[in-house]
Amino acid sequence: MEFKQVVLITGASTGFGRLMAETLARHGHTVYASMRGPGGKNATNASEIRALAKRESLALHVVELDVTSDESVERAVSVVVEQAGSIDVAINNAGYVLNGLAEAATAEQVRQIMDTNYLGPVRVNRAVLPHMRRQRSGLLLHISSGAGRVVIPSIGLYCASKFALEALAETYHYELAPQGIDSSIVEPGAYQTPVFGNMVKAADQERTETYGVANGILGKVNGVFAKSAGNPQEVADAVLQIVETPAGQRKLRYRVSAASLGVDEINALCESVQSQLFAALGLAEDVTFARRSAAGAD
Ligand SMILES: NC(=O)c1ccc[n+]([C@@H]2O[C@H](COP(=O)([O-])OP(=O)(O)OC[C@H]3O[C@@H](n4cnc5c(N)ncnc54)[C@H](OP(=O)(O)O)[C@@H]3O)[C@@H](O)[C@H]2O)c1
Repeated sequence: MEFKQVVLITGASTGFGRLMAETLARHGHTVYASMRGPGGKNATNASEIRALAKRESLALHVVELDVTSDESVERAVSVVVEQAGSIDVAINNAGYVLNGLAEAATAEQVRQIMDTNYLGPVRVNRAVLPHMRRQRSGLLLHISSGAGRVVIPSIGLYCASKFALEALAETYHYELAPQGIDSSIVEPGAYQTPVFGNMVKAADQERTETYGVANGILGKVNGVFAKSAGNPQEVADAVLQIVETPAGQRKLRYRVSAASLGVDEINALCESVQSQLFAALGLAEDVTFARRSAAGAD
């Protein structure tokens, strides 16, 4: 693709976000690797990214962004638009896992995970969309998970946050197409990133202890994750391909995983069910026409 994109990535201090930032910048895109506390908790990560940018002459910048704060999101988006003149791609990547039986998580812990994994993208998308609408192009990319399509006991509240993210991203996919803006979802399987070390434990251990056998689910699931050996660069490479796919030709969902675990089947079935629903609601033409025009076919 000749046209190079201006890309904002959330949660780019480590893991997928960091790899995406480096990969996209190495392919000539202008990248804003955003993170919390680039002068504090992430000072080392921020200076490593800046050093890489200097060493390899990359258009790779660090910007402060906490997805739980409206003000922080709006400030970061303003910085990108002021410096780069536009914003073409927003990658909603920041997120974490709440680990434990559903009943053991307090309401405050559930509020916090929804604030990051779901409301974070709501904030970012609302901040970037007026700019994308003005240029009548753009891509909202959402890093969901296989756990956004199937439910895994012991991380069920994380699943709930990713299910919510999936619904948000899919709604945008249909609603924004007439404006030439794409919304897509990436569903990674389990990959070795710092995510497992960053898991937050459900706080009410007393309740966990009442579960007896079900309590063993925790150990089994965590044991499987600990053994996951996928190379996270696969996710960054998939994101590069999506970013470089022409507007209107991007798919709604991309499963990136060595094992499908039924997620591809669910996605195919949902696509067919959605088409039937649009036909029943009399929306089939609107949705299809919008996507064809965005792709330049009409
Ligand atoms: N690794 C996997 O197996 C896997 C599988 C499926 C989906 N995912 C998803 O992939 C995404 C990236 O995870 P990862 O695996 O790369 O793990 P990671 O290395 O732990 O990355 C998570 C990133 O999110 C950031 N973050 C958390 N809360 C934030 C906030 N309020 N504001 C801004 N940034 C925040 C973290 O920043 P700090 O450094 O400030 O904490 C970190 O940079 C997540 O959404 C995760 O759910 C991961």
